[in-house]
Amino acid sequence: MTNKEPLLEVRNLEKHFPVRRGILRRTQGYVKAVDGVSLTLDRGETLGLVGESGCGKTTAGRSILRLISPSRGDILFSSRSLSGEGEETRRVNVATVSREELRQLRRDMQIIFQDPYSSLDPRMSVADLVGEPLYVHGIAKGAELHDRVEQLLVAVGLNADHMQRYSHEFSGGQRQRIGIARALALRPQMIVADEPISALDVSIQAQVVTLLQDLQEEFDLTYLIVTHDLTVVRYLCDRVAVMYLGQIVEIATAEALFADPLHPYTEALLSVRTAVEN
Ligand SMILES: Nc1ncnc2c1ncn2[C@@H]1O[C@H](COP(=O)(O)OP(=O)(O)O)[C@@H](O)[C@H]1O
Ligand SMILES: [Mg+2]
Repeated sequence: MTNKEPLLEVRNLEKHFPVRRGILRRTQGYVKAVDGVSLTLDRGETLGLVGESGCGKTTAGRSILRLISPSRGDILFSSRSLSGEGEETRRVNVATVSREELRQLRRDMQIIFQDPYSSLDPRMSVADLVGEPLYVHGIAKGAELHDRVEQLLVAVGLNADHMQRYSHEFSGGQRQRIGIARALALRPQMIVADEPISALDVSIQAQVVTLLQDLQEEFDLTYLIVTHDLTVVRYLCDRVAVMYLGQIVEIATAEALFADPLHPYTEALLSVRTAVEN
């Protein structure tokens, strides 16, 4: 029954940042980074959130996970970890859940960061980086934790020998794999990937795209992919939401969008890409 409703339903999401000026730091106005975004995400689906730099993609992605607090709107999510006895999932509003519920929700929703250089703590070994979520949530420790970390490393194309090393010893692509393993550790239902390949060498971008595809199958994942890169959209996304100045101006299947962009802004976005490709 619960499977009929979308995994995620975002309604009128807003995030306004105060703009402060002068020595008194008075609020002069607001940047409407996200200004009334609504979207749904079905189980197993990949939705791309695209648009030019500064249009609010990252803010929307982070607000949906409540890594930053949204100013307004509802984020309805069918949570496995907050389900009651005998229930498979429970629909909760991420925007208003308590701190403790939010902590539990981290098991269901995770993020892959854009920059694998700054997002991994350089003082932590790979074993700690990947194992920390499992440890913190009391899911595994000791030998079991070790085994789980090893499995996760293998799943992302790294190996057990890497466990005691530190992230700075790895290439960008390998670091992003570590970040992905960390995001996968709690077996989330949904992952928000914020520009997952844009900080990587072009030569290894395709490998990470393929990895994300394989992991989606293996771990039954639903993806929200934030990107300005239309190649990522082409390879990964079932549907695409085009953002412009904090709002969604078009949502369509990836196929339809490339074939026949409806909104003038989408057309402009696609033509830039064609110009770069040619
Ligand atoms: N913490 C913040 N404080 C103030 N303004 C912010 C903050 N984060 C983002 N913004 C502004 O919100 C807008 C959207 O930013 P962002 O979500 O990062 O866009 P994108 O990811 O599409 O490039 C930009 O104008 C940006 O300057
Ligand atoms: Mg961004």
